[in-house]
Amino acid sequence: MLERPRRNRRSESLRKMLQETQLSQRQLVLPLFVKEGDKLREEIPAIPGSYRLSIDEALREAEKAAESGILGIALFPVVPNEKKDARASESKNPKGIAPDSIRAIKKRFPELVLFADVAMDPYSSDGHDGLVHEGRVVNDPTLPILCEQALCLAQAGVDFVAPSDMMDGRIEAIRSHLDSQGFSETGILSYTAKYASSLYGPFRQALDSAPRFGDKKTYQMNPANRIEALREARLDIQEGADILMVKPALSYLDIISDLHHHCDVPIAAYQVSGEFAMIHAAARMGWIDLDRALQESLLSIRRAGAQIIFTYAALSVKAN
Ligand code: PBG
Repeated sequence: MLERPRRNRRSESLRKMLQETQLSQRQLVLPLFVKEGDKLREEIPAIPGSYRLSIDEALREAEKAAESGILGIALFPVVPNEKKDARASESKNPKGIAPDSIRAIKKRFPELVLFADVAMDPYSSDGHDGLVHEGRVVNDPTLPILCEQALCLAQAGVDFVAPSDMMDGRIEAIRSHLDSQGFSETGILSYTAKYASSLYGPFRQALDSAPRFGDKKTYQMNPANRIEALREARLDIQEGADILMVKPALSYLDIISDLHHHCDVPIAAYQVSGEFAMIHAAARMGWIDLDRALQESLLSIRRAGAQIIFTYAALSVKAN
């Protein structure tokens, strides 16, 4: 035998030296759920280790993140039902929970990179990402609403707005609006290939944001499609996106790899709530080892080509 691949796996040191992909805290973004209130820390059973936090408590999580070498936080507002309406009006309130949290975290931890979603669903009485008209989610009338929300987040000091709505043309609309209002420095992380997945359940429970009728298949992508992700990526780059995201992550490693090879902007991936919940559930049953399974899943997402990973495991996973 002339070739013996096992020779390169003989010792721990050698294996470490030859490791092709590294997982480091610096590539992880911690999602935080923020809610109005004081000293609030409500457990989210299906996302172990995550809580609905009032701003004071969110600051404590941000501190933990900063101490452990995490560089980014993504904020998700929990909005009470009485503040939801068909036009997601609360999403442009400059004193809303999202802008308030951004200002508070930026003030204490200016070095943290903050991301905030742009979409109507947490604020919408219909639970959809776009405006509903006669039972359908309509594209173009949604765009000005997203633009106002993005501006409100930019004014609060967010580093990246992250449109997660999958409306056509939203990146260009938001980019132009932000530029025209003097926010050309605010970045756009686009949820480029966001699939109509079964894996968002725990997140929608946490926010009480599940669609009140129908599903999201007329705007989120069909899980069967791969080429279409390249089309979405091409459009988002043309429209001015700074970072592209694939979501979910583990079942879509081929998409992450495609975008990594075809695009000249950084690729992010979102290890979504259902992916995280599956790993935790199996670990709780004693069927898999939690730490090793989390590490392996994140490492594989990195290996596929993601530069950044949004993950609920950001604080608990060991770098490798
Ligand atoms: C909202 C949004 C969702 C997630 C992130 N932003 C849910 C959805 O599209 O219904 C899911 C994240 C997760 O499951 O962890 N547009």
